[in-house]
Amino acid sequence: MIDLSSTLANLASNTVLALQDAATSTAPAAAALAEPVVEQRELTGDFWLPQASSTLAPATDFAFNAITWLSYVFFFGITFVLVYLTWKYRQRGTTVRYDADAPVHNTPLEVGWTVIPLLLVIAIFFMGFKGYLDLSTPPKNAYEINVTAAQWSWNFKYPNGATSNDLVVPAGQPVKLVMRSNDVLHSLFIPDFRVKQDVIPGRYSYLWFQADEPTGIVPEDEMATTAKGHYLFCTEYCGTDHSNMNRKVFVLNEEDFKEWEETQARWLDEVPDEELYSVAGPKLYLRCSNCHSIDGSAGTGPSWGDQTSGSIAGLGSLWTRTSDGKTPIDGGTRDDGGSTISEYIGPGKLYETPEDYIRASIYNPGGLLVSGYGPNMPHFKGQLNDRAIDALIGMMKQLDQFDAKGRFIGKAGN
Ligand code: CUA
Repeated sequence: MIDLSSTLANLASNTVLALQDAATSTAPAAAALAEPVVEQRELTGDFWLPQASSTLAPATDFAFNAITWLSYVFFFGITFVLVYLTWKYRQRGTTVRYDADAPVHNTPLEVGWTVIPLLLVIAIFFMGFKGYLDLSTPPKNAYEINVTAAQWSWNFKYPNGATSNDLVVPAGQPVKLVMRSNDVLHSLFIPDFRVKQDVIPGRYSYLWFQADEPTGIVPEDEMATTAKGHYLFCTEYCGTDHSNMNRKVFVLNEEDFKEWEETQARWLDEVPDEELYSVAGPKLYLRCSNCHSIDGSAGTGPSWGDQTSGSIAGLGSLWTRTSDGKTPIDGGTRDDGGSTISEYIGPGKLYETPEDYIRASIYNPGGLLVSGYGPNMPHFKGQLNDRAIDALIGMMKQLDQFDAKGRFIGKAGN
């Protein structure tokens, strides 16, 4: 619906990313020597199209280039003939010359300018139709990844239970994305692969591709903008932080992919209990960070820190204002008219402990709404297990040990 404008927006953000890449690559040479060199994504491709990195891309590009060149030929050809004939048969002087024997009809010419364009558009139709059928028919042996779009993040879930925020796929193998939305219309677009598909609430949609060229490993810091990988966009305007749904696609060779998938499925279990909040917390917080700040700045959702504006201004961090019972409540499916969270937390009340309330708010965010905030948060039921919730609550309780971006900076005073 708003696809055109979002495509333009993506073009713009693409440029910004490219500029960022360019900016970091021209960083002072001294710094580059001192620090490990970050692998840069080469911006290849031509004026019209980005690099072609899937097996589907050549057919799409061929159709695009064929139509573009046909347009060049006919545009310049017709313009030339038009200008030339206008000049040649212009009226000279005031006498009108009329040749009674001049041709008024030419059958071969008329058949020619009807049949040739007809054949061309039929050829274009078949090019497009074949490409469309190829794009919409995933191979039977494809590797399946479940995709959940939500305002404003992607969640990719692999057959062995691993999950990730960036898309990671095996090279040289067809990959099928089974996509659904938690809330509104989104659209998944990977320009380098020439694939794009709407992600629709209440309906599954498919997308498939095969990328043969590995891009290399997934960077530890998932937010790194310089990380090599193909861009992945949400290309349907889906609200305030639509642009936060820009991620990366990493293509790994079979061996690396297996290893990554294994590690990714187990990582949370392998973090020692005492490091859960400091190691697992920041990784999990990345998905919260689009809406919830740590430094107290206002966002789509209440800050985890001591927010400086709005209904919760000056009430302390999320943990403080929740455990003190001061958070003002206004609305929600479980709201029964109470004005602060203290009326809902405690023995015999809706939630026994503040932890129960936070856990419930992650699984069913619309239950109780903080004053001034709407039911905007997607639910994370089935996406975060108890261990993940423990990690997040642990982080909220010891927020002073993290910087504004949610990175662990260690215990104060140690
Ligand atoms: Cu999701 Cu735009």
